[in-house]
Amino acid sequence: MQIPSSMTVVEISTYGGPEVLKPTTAPVPDPGPGQILIRIAYAGVNRPDALQRAGNYAPPADASPLPGLEASGHVAAVGDGVTRWSVGDAVTALLPGGGYAEYAVTDATHALPVPDGMSMDRAAALCETFFTVWTNVFMRGGLQAGEKFLVHGGSSGIGTTAIQLAKLHEARVFATAGSAEKCAACDRLGAEATFNYHETDFVEAMKAEGGADLILDMVGGSYIPRNLDALANDGRLVQIAFLEGPVVELNMTQIMTRRLTITGSTLRPQSQAAKAAIARALESEVWPHLASGAIGPVMDSAFELADAAKAHTRMEGSTHIGKIMLKVT
Ligand SMILES: NC(=O)c1ccc[n+]([C@@H]2O[C@H](COP(=O)([O-])OP(=O)(O)OC[C@H]3O[C@@H](n4cnc5c(N)ncnc54)[C@H](OP(=O)(O)O)[C@@H]3O)[C@@H](O)[C@H]2O)c1
Repeated sequence: MQIPSSMTVVEISTYGGPEVLKPTTAPVPDPGPGQILIRIAYAGVNRPDALQRAGNYAPPADASPLPGLEASGHVAAVGDGVTRWSVGDAVTALLPGGGYAEYAVTDATHALPVPDGMSMDRAAALCETFFTVWTNVFMRGGLQAGEKFLVHGGSSGIGTTAIQLAKLHEARVFATAGSAEKCAACDRLGAEATFNYHETDFVEAMKAEGGADLILDMVGGSYIPRNLDALANDGRLVQIAFLEGPVVELNMTQIMTRRLTITGSTLRPQSQAAKAAIARALESEVWPHLASGAIGPVMDSAFELADAAKAHTRMEGSTHIGKIMLKVT
């Protein structure tokens, strides 16, 4: 594969709104030891990209400053010590950054094969949400078959993945979303009930079910005390973002009296080994179900790489259901 010395990328020209995303050129990165260089077909757009663009989510020091946490494509070069992948292999990968570009490097252990029969746009939509949901809902939250699981933002990229994976694991799934159309989409994915939070109090709805055993929350703010109220005894709350803010006044008593657990994590700063362990678990536990078509990414829309600003505008307008993609090559 012929690799050029420079490539088209979309950079964050300064912190601000979607308009600060500007196409430009940059050198093609070299894969270091243990890394692969991917010629990107499609890149996923995720809410953390918008946070980074606004100056609220700094990339790790050793990561590309370009946005983009996931991509599909073909291996263009391999670094020293990489044995699993060869030039030309079709992969989908978690990236430390740099996905809004024609080429990106990532750790070879953070790439997975494109599931059999899956198109490259759908393959690019997998890693950020499946890694995040797997580590938070199953490894951290310990969701078990038969448990009641509530996911907020059920129609988001994260939410649509969480509903499907929880259902696959035979949990009873509940969701919240902000419109009738979004609620219907969550129900079609397997939610037993989806509550339009403009109309229904999810606390009362979950109490009527005996409380949630596990809640996955990205809203925070006023949801934090309400989530505790909505949990069953011994319930767990896993926090993955704070769209409404992280500061809240909280009466902690029921954490003690009802044995509740509050935890959470962010994926990006985790160690290379931790992300590799998640990738291995996904490949054995989840990838066969993607290949069979039992589950799959929910696709909202695709934009050309140069139109990344339009993709962010769509995401922040919050009318989308599922994943927003960038077509790169
Ligand atoms: N911790 C991690 O490792 C990690 C990794 C990836 C993503 N995340 C976080 O997970 C969240 C989802 O990411 P995504 O890429 O799937 O984004 P997304 O598709 O844009 O989802 C955001 C969802 O949040 C809901 N929402 C937004 N503001 C809200 C509010 N104030 N109250 C209630 N719901 C609100 C929206 O649904 P409605 O319109 O229905 O309200 C929307 O579906 C983001 O907050 C992201 O930062 C965390």
